[in-house]
Amino acid sequence: MSAAIELDRETIAKAYARWAPVYDLVFGAVFERGRQAAITAAERIGGRILEVGVGTGISLPDYSAANRICGVDISEPMLRKAQERVDELGLAHVEGLWVMDAEHLGFPDASFDVVVAQYVITTVPNPEATLDEFARVLRPGGEIVLVSRIGAEAGLRRSLERWAAPAARKLGWRTEFAWGRYQQWAARTADMQLIERRLMPPLKHFALIRFAKVAGTGVMAGTRPGMTVN
Ligand SMILES: C[S@@+](CC[C@H](N)C(=O)[O-])C[C@H]1O[C@@H](n2cnc3c(N)ncnc32)[C@H](O)[C@@H]1O
Repeated sequence: MSAAIELDRETIAKAYARWAPVYDLVFGAVFERGRQAAITAAERIGGRILEVGVGTGISLPDYSAANRICGVDISEPMLRKAQERVDELGLAHVEGLWVMDAEHLGFPDASFDVVVAQYVITTVPNPEATLDEFARVLRPGGEIVLVSRIGAEAGLRRSLERWAAPAARKLGWRTEFAWGRYQQWAARTADMQLIERRLMPPLKHFALIRFAKVAGTGVMAGTRPGMTVN
């Protein structure tokens, strides 16, 4: 078994079609703190916000009506739930919802003030290409705000994560995902700077991760000295 187990879009789309009817019940409360932290971080910038992997739209009612939210997801059944939520709650701050692949966003460069992705990066086939795409649609001065699972570096948890990886893949996500991948992506990506990592429940196995897009220098930005890491 390979350490970095691969995912494909078809498996993921099938998995989330199955999750759609029960997703909020199973993952609503357990991921709530992370979602709230991401929304708070996104709203510090505010404006036009893209939520990638918006799923059932569980976080849409929690954004301030002062922002404009665009949501995309690969799963049509998940997005149908999001549209029902928007209609039932009359969420006028939601600009639109689109079936779209995170790795190939149909928006022009620099069209958003913030890109948010909660519990999504470990579910996409190519996380680094997906982050590249987030950076492309982000305006200079904007932020990428993620909540994501961070895999263990060593020990029993790492062994368990590797053992559980094939089953987790069928359910729609990776259990193992090294923190170093985010650091390496920032180090090799022009204008993107890693500005925060804050551990999150459940069990501090997740983190709020923020990247800032520095204004058009074209240089490798990497990690800000003195960045908050816990
Ligand atoms: C674990 S759920 C997270 C849903 C929501 N963000 C939340 O906070 O609960 C992952 C979501 O990402 C979506 N997703 C997975 N791969 C994707 C891709 N390549 N492009 C867009 N969305 C994707 C799934 O369909 C699913 O709705």
